[in-house]
Amino acid sequence: MKKWYAVLGDPIAQSMSPTMHDQWFGQSNLNATYVPIHVEPQNLEQAIQSLRTLGCSGWNVTVPHKQAILPFLDEVDDSAKLMDAVNTVYQTNDGKLIGTNTDGAGFVRSLEEFAGDDGVDAPVLIIGAGGAARGIAFALQSAGYGPLYFANRTASKATELAAQMRNAYVFSIEEAEQRLGKFGLVVQTTSVGMNFAQEGVPLNPKNIARDAIVADIIYNPLETEFLQAAEQAGARIMNGVGMFVHQGALAFEKWTGVYPDTKKMIETITMKVG
Ligand code: ATR
Repeated sequence: MKKWYAVLGDPIAQSMSPTMHDQWFGQSNLNATYVPIHVEPQNLEQAIQSLRTLGCSGWNVTVPHKQAILPFLDEVDDSAKLMDAVNTVYQTNDGKLIGTNTDGAGFVRSLEEFAGDDGVDAPVLIIGAGGAARGIAFALQSAGYGPLYFANRTASKATELAAQMRNAYVFSIEEAEQRLGKFGLVVQTTSVGMNFAQEGVPLNPKNIARDAIVADIIYNPLETEFLQAAEQAGARIMNGVGMFVHQGALAFEKWTGVYPDTKKMIETITMKVG
């Protein structure tokens, strides 16, 4: 029987997950499809119940439901507990719904694909201290990267996050700008630059080391003002398409056991956004 998967969000029309997963199902010769479902916050619990009733095999969760969904699942795994957010739901053989989070691990996979044999130099600067920063920071740390430094507009949030981690420190935005040259990797996780709505840069990257990797988790636009400035300063820049594709690939693997092609998919999504 044909299996079906979904993504729940509000809004949802802009999501590129259906295109991505449908292509992967085709490439893997799997008889399955993936549909976007618009769910408003007040309808989330009922939507989950309906997905159970209708036999949905698994789904992704996007804004604004990533935290709200936790109580409606049978279990959440360690990654989702640590991040207090779920982006992927899968079913066990006995029909239990498990919530997991592939966002942080997706970032690390995309970073490693981007860096290749050159590897990634320490230390790491993370700009931002919200949910995205948290997921990426824990995933980087468990993959062995560090020390980590956080710089955030609201310094107290960076301090709080760093206190929950090993080998993690806090810089003010000014300190981070001045000492940017010491970092091998800088990860921009704030919403500054997204969809051209929030103009500007969260910090000035002009002091970046020439061979450093500067990553932005935003992928629309493909190059934020921050990435453009970092490239002009000589950094190797990486946009958020890779993280988007790899978080999806990790979800796909949970559902099917197959890790799908990511390199061609990054090209496909880049063309769609650009
Ligand atoms: P997400 O889940 O996408 O990380 P979030 O948890 O709301 O969303 O976190 C948003 C992050 O972007 C925070 O680090 C926030 O900084 P504050 O903690 O100071 O709010 C950062 N951010 C959002 N708008 C910003 C802006 N205009 N300038 C600088 N930082 C901004």
